[in-house]
Amino acid sequence: MKELKLSAVNAPLQGELEVPGDKSISHRSVIFGALAHGVTTVSHFLDGEDCMRTVDIFRAMGVSIDKEGSQLKIVGKGRQALTEPTAPLYFGNSGTTARLMLGILAGLPFFTTVYGDASLTKRPMNRVVDPLCQMGAHIDGRKDGNYLPLAINGDTLSGIHYHLPVKSAQVKSAVLLAGLYANGETTVVETSLTRNHTETMLQAFGADIEIEGKEITVKGNQTLSANDVYVPGDISSAAFFLAAAAIVQGSSIRLLHVGLNETRTGIIDVLKAMGANVIVEEVHSKGGELLGNIRIAQSPLIGTTIEGEMIPRLIDEIPIIALLATQAVGTTVIKDAEELRVKETDRILAVTEVLTRLGADVEATDDGLIVHGKTPLTGNEVASYHDHRIAMMASVASLITNGEVIIDDISPVATSYPNFYKDLDHLIK
Ligand code: S3P
Repeated sequence: MKELKLSAVNAPLQGELEVPGDKSISHRSVIFGALAHGVTTVSHFLDGEDCMRTVDIFRAMGVSIDKEGSQLKIVGKGRQALTEPTAPLYFGNSGTTARLMLGILAGLPFFTTVYGDASLTKRPMNRVVDPLCQMGAHIDGRKDGNYLPLAINGDTLSGIHYHLPVKSAQVKSAVLLAGLYANGETTVVETSLTRNHTETMLQAFGADIEIEGKEITVKGNQTLSANDVYVPGDISSAAFFLAAAAIVQGSSIRLLHVGLNETRTGIIDVLKAMGANVIVEEVHSKGGELLGNIRIAQSPLIGTTIEGEMIPRLIDEIPIIALLATQAVGTTVIKDAEELRVKETDRILAVTEVLTRLGADVEATDDGLIVHGKTPLTGNEVASYHDHRIAMMASVASLITNGEVIIDDISPVATSYPNFYKDLDHLIK
């Protein structure tokens, strides 16, 4: 536990910043680099706890991964060269590590046991265990394999045609990763388009993959070739500063080299819909991913409705969007976001509790939030619910409260943004 007391700053954010590498892309760079043949280098890798779980797991299966700051060198010898780990594999707090690794471990010719921290141990795994078992996997655990720890008896898998019952890139990726080494073809059909970094990076590593709208097909028994990966800045981390600059009087900042993949830029569309003064510039592509700079300055905001296909494009940004909504005139409605209930914590509950304690007018619904603005915020003691994004949202809120915000535990911030407070300080003038 690491308590933080944030006194009301009430100073503008100004200047430039490069946010750390994208979490989703960093995980995938390690996974594909370790499975491929040849040396993969990764630059601007996210040096956070979650991504290090993925690194440690491949090291435990015999892959050489050198790390110097945000540079990785992964010596891939192909999937066949992975060796049976002699100890249980630890996923920590990382849902992405858990779901994607299950897709790989299920088809490897050895036995593994896997576990996670208290939060991950409460999160559903049947969303990946079910399709993997349909492909022939043997996975056991509590409540029919729904909760960690799990035991996996690897076996040869068969391709599958799978309609995703949940809007989840992690589930889509787990099935595609299993399909890559299964017998026959695997097709995944999405109901809403979710982040597509797995598909994009598979293409860069030379995989045979077909994408037709929401239907993705991979051939089985493939081999991947090493590739050099540059990880764009994480728009989900940038979102905290975008929101801060949008609501703190007199702010004007520029965030550099931020990932702008269409499946992730819902936050920019929402900021625009709320009337924020936001401009995206110097957009270009690297390794199949779009990136560019984002300028934003404080301006009056209005409420908006966020629903349907937009939700997966900003699922991780909803806590900070809820804070924005408290400073917007009118009502903001967020619906179709039932996935928030099974994140690092129940984020519908956590956001409602934290913002209400700070004086906001927020209602929780089954699948989202209703925020009535604009309300002044006051200082108070709040919990982070052991969730990095709740801790960072409460920290940004403290920039506009009229008293001290005390957060019970900010240690989870290290999972996705170890230098968050240093970078926030850098921008506050
Ligand atoms: C992620 C997908 C999302 C997101 C998570 C990272 C990924 O989860 O919330 O932070 O890297 O695939 P779901 O796929 O469960 O929605």
